[in-house]
Amino acid sequence: MKTSSLTAALLAVAPAAATGWSWAAAHGKSINFTSVPGYFVQDDEATNPTGFDYASVNFGLINRTYPTDKRFDPNGEKTQWQRFEAYVKFLNSACSKRRGVQYKLLFIGRHGEGWHNAAESFYGTPAWNCYWAEQQGNGTAVWADPLLTPAGEVEAYKANAYFKDRYETQKMPHFETYYSSPLSRCTITANLTFADMSLPADRPFTPIVKEGFREGMTVHTCNRRSSKTYISTMFPFIQFEDGFTEEDELWIADQAETDAAFRVRAKAVLDDVFTTDPKTWISITAHSGAATRLLSALNHRPFRLATGQIIPVLVKAEAVALQPTPSFDSHEPYSTCDAPPITSIAGQGCVCATSTSTSTPLPSATGEPDDECPADDE
Ligand SMILES: *[C@@H]1O[C@H](CO)[C@@H](O)[C@H](O)[C@H]1NC(C)=O
Ligand SMILES: *[C@@H]1O[C@H](CO)[C@@H](O)[C@H](O)[C@H]1NC(C)=O
Ligand SMILES: *[C@@H]1O[C@H](CO)[C@@H](O)[C@H](O)[C@H]1NC(C)=O
Ligand SMILES: *[C@@H]1O[C@H](CO)[C@@H](O)[C@H](O)[C@H]1NC(C)=O
Repeated sequence: MKTSSLTAALLAVAPAAATGWSWAAAHGKSINFTSVPGYFVQDDEATNPTGFDYASVNFGLINRTYPTDKRFDPNGEKTQWQRFEAYVKFLNSACSKRRGVQYKLLFIGRHGEGWHNAAESFYGTPAWNCYWAEQQGNGTAVWADPLLTPAGEVEAYKANAYFKDRYETQKMPHFETYYSSPLSRCTITANLTFADMSLPADRPFTPIVKEGFREGMTVHTCNRRSSKTYISTMFPFIQFEDGFTEEDELWIADQAETDAAFRVRAKAVLDDVFTTDPKTWISITAHSGAATRLLSALNHRPFRLATGQIIPVLVKAEAVALQPTPSFDSHEPYSTCDAPPITSIAGQGCVCATSTSTSTPLPSATGEPDDECPADDE
């Protein structure tokens, strides 16, 4: 199967934003993203992503001066965030927009721990991948489109408290647009993080759900989304991108989205945001695997997010000559056990009780490095 239908759908919705705005300079062009270095410690090779916590370092914002300080803050009274905001506003001045360049601040957050994360730890990754993840749950925990565990809720409350503190004490700018993956662990995380805040009237928390931000569509039931009705019943204030279908038409029970398709999708959803949303300060609530592909599309260095973690990126987007899109396989088979495996060995894989109908190696048998492991990408 060549080219994913999701990518086609994303490209098709691009001109029809709710605001009607579209980035004229990018019409008929491709967009090249750069993560601008020197503003956040996360893009410094010396910063270790493992164990990094946004809440101990002001989201990683570097203490520094900006060319705009002299004019914006002649008496040295403004905070780092205020001075940074003024600088980004300057970068985004009308003349750079005409030149086909724009800047946005993207805060990419990973959801708090969900029941699928707990179950993967409980069963071990090989057994999770080859059998348990394909089930709806185990009679005690449900991990089909899972909710947050109590620990996951605590992670979201921590973000809530930290944002409130930054707004209050550091005058950090409020987000202008919020996006979320449609999966419950993300909408719930975004809601617990932002819904109870008193926000400026022109910057309300009315997140827009986009399919492009969802997790890699493995055959795991945690990556199949609930219906549009379910989502809007849980969160009546949530908005949906144009063309968002009632049922999940993208997830396939026995076929996994390929990494190539996932990467193209991550680039496409960013293209969509940059061509339809004129705002600068943007929050995105997504997943580990999605964040990895988004950062890659933004030409940011790899920076793996633990559950509940958040990374800011100053993005420069340039409209460039139309680049060819390589063709790719959108899906691949995924073999599983049809009963709990007899054995499952970390780094090696499962031995099924009965033989399966497919001949490809069992998932997780490859012992791939952590940052490409499909299982804990979720
Ligand atoms: C995109 O930007 C990168 C720098 O981030 C540059 O190396 C590359 O040549 C650019 N690509 C195009 C097509 O302009
Ligand atoms: C930036 O300055 C503040 C206050 O002066 C300090 O608390 C903080 O540790 C500094 N941050 C970094 C990343 O150096
Ligand atoms: C189901 O999985 C959860 C982990 O998510 C575990 O705590 C629980 O004990 C499991 N229940 C059964 C019946 O194995
Ligand atoms: C959304 O967040 C609000 C504020 O924290 C909370 O009262 C409400 O229960 C949350 N809704 C859901 C469905 O989690």
